[in-house]
Amino acid sequence: MNPIANPFAPGAGAPPPELVGRDPVLEQARILLGRTRQKRPEKSMMLTGLRGVGKTVLLNEIERQARADGYRTIFIEAHEDKPLGPLLAPHLRSLLYDLDRIAGAGDKAKRGLRVLRSFLGSLKITYADIEVGLDVDPERGSADSGDLEIDLPNLIVAIGEAAEERQTAVALLIDELQYFTGKELGALIMAMHKVQQRQLPVALLGAGLPILPGLAGESKSYAERLFAFPDVGALSKSDSAKALREPALSAGVVFEEPALAEVFRLTRGYPYFLQEWGYQSWNQAPSDTITLDVVQRVTPTVIDRLDANFFRVRFDRLTPSEKRFLRAVAELGPGSHRTGDIAETLGVKVTSLGPVRAKLIRKGMIYSPAHGDMAFTVPLFDEFMRRAMPTLAR
Ligand SMILES: Nc1ncnc2c1ncn2[C@@H]1O[C@H](COP(=O)(O)OP(=O)(O)OP(=O)(O)O)[C@@H](O)[C@H]1O
Ligand SMILES: [Mg+2]
Repeated sequence: MNPIANPFAPGAGAPPPELVGRDPVLEQARILLGRTRQKRPEKSMMLTGLRGVGKTVLLNEIERQARADGYRTIFIEAHEDKPLGPLLAPHLRSLLYDLDRIAGAGDKAKRGLRVLRSFLGSLKITYADIEVGLDVDPERGSADSGDLEIDLPNLIVAIGEAAEERQTAVALLIDELQYFTGKELGALIMAMHKVQQRQLPVALLGAGLPILPGLAGESKSYAERLFAFPDVGALSKSDSAKALREPALSAGVVFEEPALAEVFRLTRGYPYFLQEWGYQSWNQAPSDTITLDVVQRVTPTVIDRLDANFFRVRFDRLTPSEKRFLRAVAELGPGSHRTGDIAETLGVKVTSLGPVRAKLIRKGMIYSPAHGDMAFTVPLFDEFMRRAMPTLAR
């Protein structure tokens, strides 16, 4: 069928034609935004889930909702090696100028800009461009201690006060939170703690891999009282079917039941995979009915495409010893596995695995669902590893 009319959207953060199965999370976000706007306390939200389950799509949808509710929003994505301060600062600057332009009495937005200026001055890496663009004097003694866990909360409070004065609210949306250091995560948690105590209209909505609740808890033990960690996972069988059937039907195309069942069997309901199978099935279908036969015929193409894009990009970033570790995990099959069993499969001592395991966690390839257990952050990665490395040579 006509690929131009193809409704399916395999990609990173690409909005699906039908956002299925996420009403409970969206409702939770709606309550958080509503309560924060009224300056009532509510836990910040950190969406957690494996790769390709739709966390970024959800954050984008929540941002849209927040804007529709009159929020000013900031959306940033953490990177492996980019510090939080410089990442956030340009956005906070635009936000403060924006708040300053809203008509109203008071000078809290201007004060916010001065606090931002002093915050920038205290960052080890100064951001020349931003400082030049900030024609205000620094507010000495605010956010310039050089300790992020003191400075960031002060800065966010200044922003909350400016938003409050202009009778608006601010939503901070941060993707890939697991890449921040413990110190940075701690600073964010403390900032939200302070915002709650002062009852300021600032909401934090983040997303990250399942390792995130553990990182937050390690950084600040009270994190679980300030943050909710809704789990974003695979879709149920009926939701998976809906995700494919409805967009097809809207275009006058029937996705037959046996075809839907086969896609669910192959994808286990993981959203990114559903989009890939939907997309290829649509393109290859000879008529406006997608049958089991069509799905079976496109499956090798889909798997090749997944290997070449989704899986291979992660695989290529690994060292030989990291690959061997992951291959051993794959050898043990789907699900999570004891580190002891992984060591045994590799024929080495558990203690010798510490460094490689730490690197793989840092790269976001594996996480520990429970103490001493390891699992892949990428769905169906075990099957890919067995394809990419057919044997585990000792
Ligand atoms: N609820 C849903 N129903 C159907 N498809 C969805 C749903 N949510 C997301 N998708 C699709 O899944 C794919 C992945 O979405 P997204 O990039 O948001 O995942 P992610 O969790 O952010 O992944 P990563 O951890 O790699 O950043 C996209 O192609 C998107 O269209
Ligand atoms: Mg994402």
